[in-house]
Amino acid sequence: MTEPVVLLERRADGVAVITLNNGKVNALSSAVVAAVHEIADDLTANLPGAVVVTGGDRIFAAGADISEFGGPEEAAAITARIHAALDALAAIPRFVIAAVSGYALGGGCELSLACDYRIASERAVFGQPEILLGTIPGGGGTQRLSRQVGPSRAKELSITGRLVMADEAFRIGLADEIVPSAELHDRALGLAAECARGAVLSQALAKQAIDRGLSTSLAEGLQIEQELFVESFRTDDSQIGVKSFLEHGPGKAEFTGT
Ligand code: COA
Repeated sequence: MTEPVVLLERRADGVAVITLNNGKVNALSSAVVAAVHEIADDLTANLPGAVVVTGGDRIFAAGADISEFGGPEEAAAITARIHAALDALAAIPRFVIAAVSGYALGGGCELSLACDYRIASERAVFGQPEILLGTIPGGGGTQRLSRQVGPSRAKELSITGRLVMADEAFRIGLADEIVPSAELHDRALGLAAECARGAVLSQALAKQAIDRGLSTSLAEGLQIEQELFVESFRTDDSQIGVKSFLEHGPGKAEFTGT
C-alpha cells in the first residue's frame, strides 16, 4: 500500500504533527493541498493542544507541483485550492509551528507563513522563486510574506526570486528560531508540548486577537483585544491560573484546557 502524501500523527502529549510526505521534493500537488485542507479541518473539529507542521530533511516543500501548471484556468483552480487549504491551516485555533529543514520554496514558504511560528534548521532555505517561472506567488506569499518581513523585502524576494539561507531568514524575521539540524524536531515538539499543557483556550484568543487585529485598523484591533480579554475570563483556566498565582506564585498553574 502506498503511504499518504500527508501524514497526521496525534501524540499522547496533545501535539498533532502534520508531515508532508510527497516523494523526493515534497511538491504541493493538488492531492497534497487537498490533504492539508482536510487535516486542517479535522484538527479544527477535534482540537489538539498544539500543532507542528514539517516536511522532509532535505526539502520541506518545493512549492506547487509545476507539472500541474497550464494556463489561466488551471492557475485559477490551483490558487483557489491552496488559498483555501492554507487559510484552514492558519485558522486552527491552536499554536501552529512550522519545523523547517531544507528547502521551503514557493508554496512551501507560503505554507510555513500560514503557520504561527517558524523554527528552521541551520540547513533551511526559504524563497519565493515563482518569478523565475515567469509568474508570482499564488499561495498567499505576496500578503503573508510582506506582513512578516515588510513590503520592501517581500518585493525584493518576490521580484528577484532570490533564495534566503537560514541565518538571513532569522535576521529578517522570516524564521523565528534557528536550531542545529539534529535538534529541529525535538525543539518544535518540545515547544508544542509546552503550549499543549497551557491555557489553550486563551492561547487561541491571543492568536485570534493578533490575526484579526493585523487585518484591520489599530483602533478596531484594540477593540477586539478588549472583547477577547473579557472572553478569556470565561475559561476555567483563567480562574485556575489566577488562583494558583495568588497561592503559589507564577508559572505553577495546572491548566485543564477548559
Ligand atoms: N514541482 C514539480 N516538480 C518539481 C518541483 C516542483 N515544485 N521541484 C522539483 N521538481 C522535480 C524536478 O523537475 C526534478 O524532476 P526529474 O527528476 O523528473 O528531473 C526533480 O523534482 C528533482 O529536482 P531537482 O531540481 O533535480 O532537484 P535538486 O535537489 O537539485 O533541487 C529544488 C531541489 C527544490 C531546490 C529544485 O528542484 C527547485 O528549485 N524546485 C523548484 C522550486 C520552485 O520554483 N518552486 C515554486 C513553484 S511555483
